[in-house]
Amino acid sequence: MDRGVAALNADLIGVAGSRAALETPALLLDATAFEKNVATLAGLAREAGMGLRPHAKTHKCAGIAKAQIDAGALGIACAKPGELLALFDAGVASLMLTAPVSSRRKIDRLVQAAAKGCALSVVADRAGLVADYGAAARAAGATISVLVDCDTGLGRTGVTTPEGAVALARMIAAEPGLIYAGVQAYAGHVQHVHRTDERRAVNRAANEGLSTILAGLAEAGLAPKIVTGGGTGSHALDFEDQVLTEVQAGSYVFMDEGYRPVELHGANGPVFDFSMFVMVTIIAHNAKGEAITDGGSKSFAIDGPPPRAFLNGREIGTIAWVGDEFGKLVLPPDVTPPAAGARIECTVPHCDPTANLHDAIHLVRGDRLEAIWPIEGRGLSD
Ligand SMILES: Cc1ncc(COP(=O)(O)O)c(C=O)c1O
Repeated sequence: MDRGVAALNADLIGVAGSRAALETPALLLDATAFEKNVATLAGLAREAGMGLRPHAKTHKCAGIAKAQIDAGALGIACAKPGELLALFDAGVASLMLTAPVSSRRKIDRLVQAAAKGCALSVVADRAGLVADYGAAARAAGATISVLVDCDTGLGRTGVTTPEGAVALARMIAAEPGLIYAGVQAYAGHVQHVHRTDERRAVNRAANEGLSTILAGLAEAGLAPKIVTGGGTGSHALDFEDQVLTEVQAGSYVFMDEGYRPVELHGANGPVFDFSMFVMVTIIAHNAKGEAITDGGSKSFAIDGPPPRAFLNGREIGTIAWVGDEFGKLVLPPDVTPPAAGARIECTVPHCDPTANLHDAIHLVRGDRLEAIWPIEGRGLSD
């Protein structure tokens, strides 16, 4: 990385004690927590006999995608063509686009990646999009896999009936250049329901709707090989229900304050640890003596509960916002604010859009900076 804090921090890689000396605002990935999260979900999926296709909308980072693939992921999911193409250029070969597109130029770029060796799958929610993917694939001399996008309650994209799914699946199967690969049903409305019993009920309703669609497809001789969906909030319930064949969880790799109140597993179950932090520095104190940091809404996505602030590994308070570039440490009355120059590690309100704000993520292990990974898809929401 040749600019920003990543360039300033590059010579600290491998140096003992370098974590505490990083230039900020710096996005951190705690290696121990990250590796634990990746291994934990991979193990749970294996135990459940289900696949994992982690969603890269969360991290947009080839280094993280490759670690997920090394742990057994079937491939990587992406939300937008720009994000997918950036990961392909960075060496991630098996990629699924989980949302429909309506631009022929974007479709052409996607199938050109397939012609260059990307194992590409996409979703379609309407006949016109199937036709466009077919025409583009034939023009590029590529073959791509297409899944029928189903809406089981989120209200975003996808067909809602067995008849709609059968019609699209037939069309995909008949289109030269396309392979009918299965269905997608992402139940986004389930993910952040805090209580497990309530989340289970909403997820079960979604999976029942999906089962009706799957039965219609089976009756028409179009039983899908892949049934993909699910996320961090629903993965354990999807493993229970066994309607999906694979789960697209994304946030589990980092965790954030938005997911913290969601009971992902029972009291004695596994936990995903916070691995993503934004490190900020105290740059000043205001007239009231409050400590001001160098990270605001240009370093944190602020659409979630406030970050918790850690000094030398100890939780000391939270962060409030005092501008796009600045934050303020909110401390209990008896705690003295740290001095200017102190580094504070903060959890993030919402991990996905926070990753999107940074050029690179600093992989830290213990007290040292181990590597700096570019976030190749950063800023690409096209
Ligand atoms: C289609 C799709 N799949 C998977 C996910 C991952 O969800 P989570 O970050 O809750 O694991 C998302 C998140 O928005 C999504 O849109």
